[in-house]
Amino acid sequence: MDSYIDLKNIPTKELKYVDLDRVNVNCSPPDFEPQRQYYFMAKCRQIVKLESERLGRPLYACIQVFGCQMNARDSEKLSGILEIIGYQLSEDENADFVIFNTCTVRDNANQKVYGRLGHLNSLKKNNPHMKIALCGCMMQEPSAIEKIRKSYRFVDLIFGTHNIYKFAELLTAMFESQEMVVDIWEDTDQIVEDLPVERKYPFKSGINIMFGCNNFCSYCIVPYVRGRERSRNLEDILGEIRKLVSEGVVEVMLLGQNVNSYGRNLARPITFANLLREVEKIEGLERIRFMTSHPKDLSDELIQVMKESKKICRHLHLPLQSGSTRILEAMNRRYTKEQYLDLARKIREEIPDIAITTDIIVGFPGEKPEDVEETIDVIRQVKYDNAFTFIYSKRTGTPAASMENQVPENIVKEGFDKVLKVVQDTARNRVALLQGQVQNALAEEVNQQDSSLITGRLSNNTIVHFKGDESLIGKIVPVYLKECHGFYYLGEIRDAGCVQSTPLQ
Ligand code: SAH
Ligand code: SF4
Ligand code: F3S
Repeated sequence: MDSYIDLKNIPTKELKYVDLDRVNVNCSPPDFEPQRQYYFMAKCRQIVKLESERLGRPLYACIQVFGCQMNARDSEKLSGILEIIGYQLSEDENADFVIFNTCTVRDNANQKVYGRLGHLNSLKKNNPHMKIALCGCMMQEPSAIEKIRKSYRFVDLIFGTHNIYKFAELLTAMFESQEMVVDIWEDTDQIVEDLPVERKYPFKSGINIMFGCNNFCSYCIVPYVRGRERSRNLEDILGEIRKLVSEGVVEVMLLGQNVNSYGRNLARPITFANLLREVEKIEGLERIRFMTSHPKDLSDELIQVMKESKKICRHLHLPLQSGSTRILEAMNRRYTKEQYLDLARKIREEIPDIAITTDIIVGFPGEKPEDVEETIDVIRQVKYDNAFTFIYSKRTGTPAASMENQVPENIVKEGFDKVLKVVQDTARNRVALLQGQVQNALAEEVNQQDSSLITGRLSNNTIVHFKGDESLIGKIVPVYLKECHGFYYLGEIRDAGCVQSTPLQ
């Protein structure tokens, strides 16, 4: 064997070029990151290789994502490490290693995980070598851990949201232990950069610009399971995007629970609007999206940057939650109905072609039919392009869970149906406004029902299906929006020969 590599001597930026098969894993691991994780990746690689030789076939790993874009991005980080250590990634849960990246924002997200775990148990009975890991937001809740320890003892590894960067180290522990390995941290102020990532799409990518949330909306579990707000350094974000663009990415989605407060707690504070100005300058990047904007922090500066930008997509997700000022106060949202309406009006005036989408909760404690009417009034006035409507779900540990005036289920259902109907009507009308236009669409995938169609996304996030083949995927093409079908269009590519090389959005 060639001389061994000691990772303690390798600078961070060179780690990704190291041949992990030559790393010395018989010495002690480095005590600094990310070198330490590369050491454990090398160690896992040996274990996976041995097991694969024993079975005479590759080992397969499958990650299932529950929840939001944060979890989707985290799963790409887990996939990156799984690939490096020698697993083949698969969509099939009948694999050698299955990971559930869980969500706990509403109770039905938790129930889904428990249901699917039952299925994994039966698969594991047929394949006793199968390993099962659980991670993500639900694992930050002690009650969930207790339940899994008691009733789902076939799980091999549990970790949370704060120590995901330690995945390789945790895997080593799992391989070396006969017992369930559980590692949950309450919080962290650490952000570890420069670990491998395996992207789901070659042409678009999510980028974390911040982690955690400080807002403590009274119904929401996210601040408890994702910890305090931490922004990444500007240079790390720009460096990551430049690298992605060099690999063929044309669209990025900047991710944070409240992107409008990005940069406030950095050593050198910077606004979200200024971050966008810097991202815009990256050559080769064609589209910029971001999620999510808290209305209380959305600045005039941001509206101006969006208005002037050639790359920021014409879409703003602006969660309302409720249209009743009284309920908004109880939710600790820190804006009134009027302030929200003024903001939406200003945005529509400045950027008339923008799509505004939202999240709405029906059935928050103390909500009366007149409050639901206020919500409906806002929907009618703002005319959302789309809205995600949720039934309030009681999350243990949040202030709203201990409020006494919980709303009976049948009343909630009534309000929910009413809101949904208005949302659907206004959204349908908004989407139909594009009928007959030619707009640029990013071709994202072959349509799952009809493989002669390509599914693309307009700048304003509307979906369009059009005739085309796989060679278009990842390209931005002009599409004639021929027929509106409620929430999507059937279109025609305008001139397949004139695919734009430097398109606007
Ligand atoms: N940070 C984002 C939201 C993340 S959670 C924001 O503030 O907009 C996504 C959505 O889930 C929220 O906007 C809210 O509408 C919904 N949600 C959160 N907690 C909920 C609960 N306890 N019950 C029902 N819906 C909830
Ligand atoms: Fe939850 Fe509110 Fe934070 Fe959004 S801003 S994640 S709703 S606490
Ligand atoms: Fe769910 Fe966690 Fe996202 S609770 S919505 S996966 S931040």
